[in-house]
Amino acid sequence: MNILVLGSGGREHTLTWKLAQSPLLKNLYVAPGNAGTATIANNIAMNVNDFEAIGKFSKENNIDIVVVGPEDPLVNGIHDYFLNDEALKEIHVIGPQKKAAELEGSKEFAKKFMMRHNIPTAAYQSFTKDTVEAGCEFLTTLNAPYVLKADGLAAGKGVLIIKDLKEAQDSLREMLIDAKFGDASTKVVIEEFLDGIELSCFVLTDGKNYVTLPTAKDYKRIGEGDTGLNTGGMGAVSPVPFADAEFLEKVETRIIKPTIDGFQKDNLPYKGFVFIGLIKVGNDPFVIEYNVRLGDPETEVVIPRLEVDLVELFQAVGNQKLDEVSLQIKSAAATTIMVVSGGYPEAYEKGKEITGIETIEDSIVFHAGTKLNDGKVLTNGGRVIAITSHADTYEEAIKKSYQSINKLHFDKMYYRKDIGFDL
Ligand code: AMP
Ligand code: GLY
Repeated sequence: MNILVLGSGGREHTLTWKLAQSPLLKNLYVAPGNAGTATIANNIAMNVNDFEAIGKFSKENNIDIVVVGPEDPLVNGIHDYFLNDEALKEIHVIGPQKKAAELEGSKEFAKKFMMRHNIPTAAYQSFTKDTVEAGCEFLTTLNAPYVLKADGLAAGKGVLIIKDLKEAQDSLREMLIDAKFGDASTKVVIEEFLDGIELSCFVLTDGKNYVTLPTAKDYKRIGEGDTGLNTGGMGAVSPVPFADAEFLEKVETRIIKPTIDGFQKDNLPYKGFVFIGLIKVGNDPFVIEYNVRLGDPETEVVIPRLEVDLVELFQAVGNQKLDEVSLQIKSAAATTIMVVSGGYPEAYEKGKEITGIETIEDSIVFHAGTKLNDGKVLTNGGRVIAITSHADTYEEAIKKSYQSINKLHFDKMYYRKDIGFDL
């Protein structure tokens, strides 16, 4: 099998690391990749949204499977692009077609989907420029805090949670009239605030069958004690200790099954990962959002816990034979801590030399924003490296990750020292 992974983060290094372990693998490529993927695969300088270049490369290199890491190319229709080309249509693309990727591409589309299939989620209404005053009126019928969501993709920044009514009404006007999030806020979803604890669950589906992957919890804020600005994610833990068997049973019957059935009923072609952002209110699960890909850094704890040949698993997705695959999950816990560039998620410097990586033995080093330069590994992004560890308990795993981080160094390096402490 020849496989091409699209993306350049910790998620993609983790997928590449797992794929590289398969005896079924012949050639492994990552576009564009990072310094970590360069050591186990061939990095190809291609943009993940340059479908023409990706198609041409796939033909020339007899690619069998394309694994799409980030949401952008999916929402832009990379799967459809392959299906519409005689020479590419037999290639398995892991990731939904454009129509189904709307589940992440449009919050309103996702809400309507959940309503149609009776999947528990916060009550909502959506508004446009023409109905902005009705939106302000609707806000007066809700209790604080107010949740405003830009309908489209806004790089994880399109959700505002506001305590004050007047401020929420002003923000609604800014989003709809002043295009605060550009085209993404042409429509705004206003929803009921749900008070609970968040976790994520991951499903891999072939459109008909599915397998449920381990749960994970990520830490979104930059500061300790979950304070400060939102980031892509500063660390993750799997499994989630507060998601017991009874709760997971509810997730399966009330959320996962109706979601996969919903894809079929609505004719949404879906072969790929579904990332379901959940909130546990009392003892009941509600859906906060769907993403049509794996999470980052959740992948860095979920994928290492799978005891399966990932190439075989992706083949089964492509051939709609996931029912024939049995998925074993390591009982040991996994944790990951993100090491980031000082200043992130605001301005930060790149090009700092990273040392000590080769001295880390008790953890797995997944690269995110790194690049190779003259044999040196340099920082090349906000999130730089994820340090994943396994242990019988998540407490021990976290301890291991922190011990490993002590061996790592680069100028202005930062990480949260409290990952998992709230559990
Ligand atoms: P999203 O981009 O939809 O994941 O939203 C970003 C974050 O906003 C989530 O991770 C939650 O912390 C929070 N959030 C979104 N919707 C709600 C809601 N209805 N109630 C409470 N918190 C929410
Ligand atoms: N860690 C959250 C995400 O990948 O969207």
